Amino acid sequence: MLQQLDMAGAAAAMPESRTTPAAHGCIDRGPSPDDWIIEQNWHAFTAEEHRVWEILFLRQKEMLRHRAVSGFLEGLDLLNFSQSEIPEFAKLNTILNQRNGWTVVAVPGLVPDRIFFQLLSERRFPAGNFIREASQLDYLEEPDVFHDVFGHVPLLADQAFADFMHALGVLGLQAGDNGAMHRLARLYWYIVEFGLVREAGKVRIFGAGIASSFAESRYALESDEPQRTRFDLMRVLRTRYRSDAFQRGYFVIESFEELLKDLQGTDLLALLAEIEDQPDLEPDRLYPGDRPA
Ligand SMILES: [Fe+2]
Repeated sequence: MLQQLDMAGAAAAMPESRTTPAAHGCIDRGPSPDDWIIEQNWHAFTAEEHRVWEILFLRQKEMLRHRAVSGFLEGLDLLNFSQSEIPEFAKLNTILNQRNGWTVVAVPGLVPDRIFFQLLSERRFPAGNFIREASQLDYLEEPDVFHDVFGHVPLLADQAFADFMHALGVLGLQAGDNGAMHRLARLYWYIVEFGLVREAGKVRIFGAGIASSFAESRYALESDEPQRTRFDLMRVLRTRYRSDAFQRGYFVIESFEELLKDLQGTDLLALLAEIEDQPDLEPDRLYPGDRPA
């Protein structure tokens, strides 16, 4: 499984093969055997659960106002994100799907790696169908609907980023067939979850793991502790990560367009074969060729 190679637990990000025992709307159903997609059953969310969304949304939107890449904040508006209620996927999808063919689908919780990449390759983003409790606003044990939808979905309104996610799904399936899923997991981790981007001369947040975390939003940009390195595909594929603490290192891309071009211009399977026997790298050490961001 993706996470077992690098990390202790399942934080804000990659899927692994387990489900949320009492996920919203699916306690008695269990996941579909084919694609793990369940009904969102939006009407079953309680007023208290919507209130948790509202508290998190307001707090995080304010936190990100001058920290997130502009496309993230624009995505919240473009997709008409609900501030006071957990978004109803059918409504959200009306706008998103028309824009670029993506949809958000409900799943019980973490899904198996292959299913996850399969869904991305079909331009379907799986979102955990439950929300943390009000007493655990900074909960990060497993991705819930706030992390998955607030953190990930706004940037699906950006064409280059949406195309990157689709390409990642296709490549993830291929990497799985070649025994290199853990390398792809690192790309997913350092970019989709914990990516930073340079915009108008400043480093901004775009990774969902940061964007949905109150404390890490500040830490990722303002702390002197983590190393910030310019993105290099091979470097990222070789770099270990952990999920049980803030990141010790972040990678900074130049733009989503360049990121997509980089991925499309690389024979990823050949690159994965090339680095197969090379040792892992640390996120907080400068190696020859690394460029501080
Ligand atoms: Fe995530």
